[in-house]
Amino acid sequence: MRRWVVAIDGPAGAGKSTVARLLADRLGYIYLDSGAMYRCVALLALRGAVEPELATPLAETAEILFDPAGIGEPQKVLLAGEDVTRAIRTPEVSQLASKVAAVPGVRAALVRLQQALGAGGGVVMEGRDIGTVVFPHAELKVFLTASPEERARRRFAELEARGEIIDFETVLAEQRERDERDQTRETSPLKAAADAITLLTDGRTIEEIVVELAGKVMS
Ligand code: DC
Repeated sequence: MRRWVVAIDGPAGAGKSTVARLLADRLGYIYLDSGAMYRCVALLALRGAVEPELATPLAETAEILFDPAGIGEPQKVLLAGEDVTRAIRTPEVSQLASKVAAVPGVRAALVRLQQALGAGGGVVMEGRDIGTVVFPHAELKVFLTASPEERARRRFAELEARGEIIDFETVLAEQRERDERDQTRETSPLKAAADAITLLTDGRTIEEIVVELAGKVMS
């Protein structure tokens, strides 16, 4: 039987990464973080002082590889052989990633890459447009979300744990700015696919959600 494509979309801080990673572990599927790809292109643009609007050639030539990580560890991201796992998570790269993600040529190049990586099934891919654009025929589509305050609280805790010095209000304001850009851009704005299951994660444990979703995937 064909192994499924599971698409997990939603805004930043909804718990997508943790849910997607644990779900993939549970199913024996590969976990793919499409946001990390946009972040890699943003890092290349930052380093090369390339304006976001001109980042398409960077996306078309980026050598992005994922290394499977142990349970509970972040997935290792390699960019032209360099471990950029941490470098792509800075607030500066986050802001730039949402700008390069609004460029149609960047999206076209990365969508092609994502489709190639997921073509054989057996993947849990997280992002913003996986169920709407990348895999419109995914067997399971989930739109994971949470209230803005809850999402900012999680992002803040994550940054704090990494030793980033930032205040909560800044995290909330930057998140609002990114949400606005992700939801209003012309190419593939963030929205739930018509046939996605929408799950609000406020007050629910990750484990509960993973169990619920695993139960929907046929093995
Ligand atoms: O999920 P993330 O925060 O790592 O994503 C980084 C940026 O890339 C964010 O602004 C949304 C954008 N993105 C996108 O437009 N489409 C995707 N499939 C994944 C991420």
